[in-house]
Amino acid sequence: MADPVPGLCTCFGLSAEDLKRLALERGLTAVGELGDATRAGTGCRTCVPDLENLLETLWKLHPKPASKPATPDTIVRDAIRPFLLKSPWELNLIDVDEATIRIRAVPRGETCRTGEDTLRQFVENRLKEMYRPDAVVVFV
Ligand code: FES
Repeated sequence: MADPVPGLCTCFGLSAEDLKRLALERGLTAVGELGDATRAGTGCRTCVPDLENLLETLWKLHPKPASKPATPDTIVRDAIRPFLLKSPWELNLIDVDEATIRIRAVPRGETCRTGEDTLRQFVENRLKEMYRPDAVVVFV
């Protein structure tokens, strides 16, 4: 395997210029979207703050694309997972049926009951705020 090219995301050899160009071409405004398109930020994750800065700066200088409606998938990816980077939890969206959202919380390390309750409350509040107020979040 070749050494990664020095750049913004060294895990995947992606330069800031490559990422900016792709973000502009595809209208990518969130780190999760860049990750889906290129894998940037999905390895060691040390570049995530730099990716956030890159996107923030980029979209200050260019007109933002029309906003897309939030879905449970994009909310989990862009508005919940980034806050869990240092937590002992990983979230997997299982499925969505109208207002019912099934999520699996997988511990990555030691956890406690209070932490799990806090996680559930945070996830449910985010989905109710950003998706629909009548959302029912079921942890499976
Ligand atoms: S440097 Fe980007 S994921 Fe590791």
